[in-house]
Amino acid sequence: MSPKVTILTLFPEMFPGPLGHSLIGKALEKNLWQLEVVDIRTFAEDKHQTVDDTSFGGGPGMVMRPDVVDKALSAVMEKGKARLIHLTPRGQVFHQALAHKMADSTLPFVFLCGRYEGIDQRVLDAWDAEDVSLGDFVLTGGELAAMTILDAVLRLIPGVIGDEKSLEEESFSKGLLEYPHYTRPRAWEGREVPEVLLSGNHKKITEWRLKEAEAITRERRPDLWNKYINQHHLT
Ligand code: ADE
Repeated sequence: MSPKVTILTLFPEMFPGPLGHSLIGKALEKNLWQLEVVDIRTFAEDKHQTVDDTSFGGGPGMVMRPDVVDKALSAVMEKGKARLIHLTPRGQVFHQALAHKMADSTLPFVFLCGRYEGIDQRVLDAWDAEDVSLGDFVLTGGELAAMTILDAVLRLIPGVIGDEKSLEEESFSKGLLEYPHYTRPRAWEGREVPEVLLSGNHKKITEWRLKEAEAITRERRPDLWNKYINQHHLT
C-alpha cells in the first residue's frame, strides 16, 4: 500500500508544493507514496502549443481541448489500470468517508486538473472520469483541490502519521466535530484549562470530550447533528 499518484496539469511547477512539506512530504521522501507530474501542454501538437479554445454555444472563457487531454491521458493510463479523478465544482463533494475509501484503494490515482472554464465533456466521458469537488465554491483550477484531497487521503496511509490513534479521535470519526484541545501553560492570559482535563479521571475526561463534541456539532452543523442523533437513536 504505497499509492502512486499522477497529476495531469497545465501548471506542473505547482507540485509537490505543500505536499512536499511536513508529514506528507516526509512520506514522499520515504516512498510511502509516489508522485508523477505530467504537463498537459507537452501533448499539444501545433507550434503555439494550444491547449484550449472557445466554447461552442458561446459564452465567456476557454475550454480545454479533448484531443490534447486525450493524448495526455493515453500516455499516463497506458501504464496500467488507474482511478481517474477529475477535479470540478460539478463533482461529488469530497468528504472524510471518501478519503478513507481512497486510502484503502489499491489502484494508482490519476488526478486531472482543469483550468479556464473546464475540459471538453467528451474526453471526460470517453475516459469515464470520476468528477470530484472540494465544495460549493469555484477555484481557478483543480490543482489546489487535488492537493487538498491528496493531503486528506495520504495522511490515512499507515506510517504517514506517527501516532495512528490520533486518527480515531479526530473530527468526523464518530460523525461529530472534534472536542477542543488545550496544552501548557495551565493558566494563560487569565484563561484556565478546563478543570476536568487536569483530574486524571479518564472516564470523566472521555464523557466531557463527548459532551463538548456533541455541543459544537449541534451548534455549528445541524446536518451532521441530525445524522448523529438518528444513528444513536437520541432525541
Ligand atoms: N475546480 C474549480 N473549482 C473546484 C472545486 N470547488 N472543486 C474541485 N475542483 C475545482
